[in-house]
Amino acid sequence: MLVGFESSDDAAIYRIDHNIAIIHTLDLFPPVVDEPYLYGQIAAANALSDVYAMGGTPKLALNILCYPEDLDKETLKGILQGGYDKVREANAVIAGGHTLKDNEPKYGLSVVGFVHPDHILTNSNSKAGDLLILTKPLGTGILNTAMKANLINAETENVIISSMAQLNKRAYEIMNNYKVNACTDITGFGVLGHSYEMAAGSGVTISLNANSLPLHPQARDMAKMGIIPAGAYANRNFLDNKVKVDPSVPLELLDIMYDPQTSGGLLISIAEKDAYKLLSELKGEIPCAEIIGEVLPLDNYSIIVK
Ligand code: CO
Ligand code: CO
Ligand code: CO
Repeated sequence: MLVGFESSDDAAIYRIDHNIAIIHTLDLFPPVVDEPYLYGQIAAANALSDVYAMGGTPKLALNILCYPEDLDKETLKGILQGGYDKVREANAVIAGGHTLKDNEPKYGLSVVGFVHPDHILTNSNSKAGDLLILTKPLGTGILNTAMKANLINAETENVIISSMAQLNKRAYEIMNNYKVNACTDITGFGVLGHSYEMAAGSGVTISLNANSLPLHPQARDMAKMGIIPAGAYANRNFLDNKVKVDPSVPLELLDIMYDPQTSGGLLISIAEKDAYKLLSELKGEIPCAEIIGEVLPLDNYSIIVK
C-alpha cells in the first residue's frame, strides 16, 4: 500500500509492479437534485473524481445503491442510467454492484483506476513557491440549499447541475502533461478544508485570495442572505483556529470558502514557472479555472485568507 490511512487522500493506492498501481475509492451520497438521471450523473462524476485527483484514469466501477422499498422502477432506472453514462464518458466500465433497502436513497460508485507508480499525485506534496489552480467554481452547497427553497433562477440551476455532473477528466488530462506537485478534489470540506489538508499534509502554509475565487452565479447573493448549509458551519468549527483571515475579506466569501462542495473541481499545486502555462491551457476548455492562491513556507497558520 502506497497511500493509505496515514494520509488524508480519499483513495487507497496499491502498487502491482513497476508500471502500474491501482487507485481504489468509494463515494456515495443522498440525492442533491430531484431528477434521477442527473442525480446519477452527479454521484458518479463525484466518485470518479478521486481517481483523477490522484493522477489516474478510471477503469472499473461498481454501483452502490440504497433505496426505499416503495421507490418506483423508473426512478431507479434513471439513477443507474445516469451513473452508467458518466462511467462510459470516463472510458471505464460498470461491472455490476450492490443494492440495499434504506429509507433514504443513496447512490455512488466504488471505482478502480490505474496510475503509473511514478506519477501518483497526492495532497501532501505541495511546495513553497507553488501556485494553486482551481478548476470549478464554488458555491454548490449554498446553491443546492437555495434551490430546495426555490430561491435561484433556472439559469443558475442549469449552471450548477452541469458543473456538478462534469467529470474532472479533461482537467486531469491537461494537468497530466505538467509536473504537478500536489492535487486534490474539492468536496465536502469546502475549498478551505481541502486546502487545509493539503497544507497540513505538505508542511506548508497556503494563502488563498478570496477575490480570485471562481464563483457560481448567485452564490454570493445567497451567501449574503445567509443561505448556508449545516456542513459549512461544521467545516468552520473544525477549521476556525487553523485559518488566519484578513479583516478585509467579505463574510459571504468566507462562507463560500467553508461551503461543502458536491463534485467540485481539482485543486492543483504547481510551481509558479509552469502555473500560468497550465492555467492558459486549462482555460481553453475550462474557462472558469483560476489561480486562487499561493504556497508559502510553513508559518504560524496553515491557511491564510486575504
Ligand atoms: Co471522495
Ligand atoms: Co476527494
Ligand atoms: Co452483493
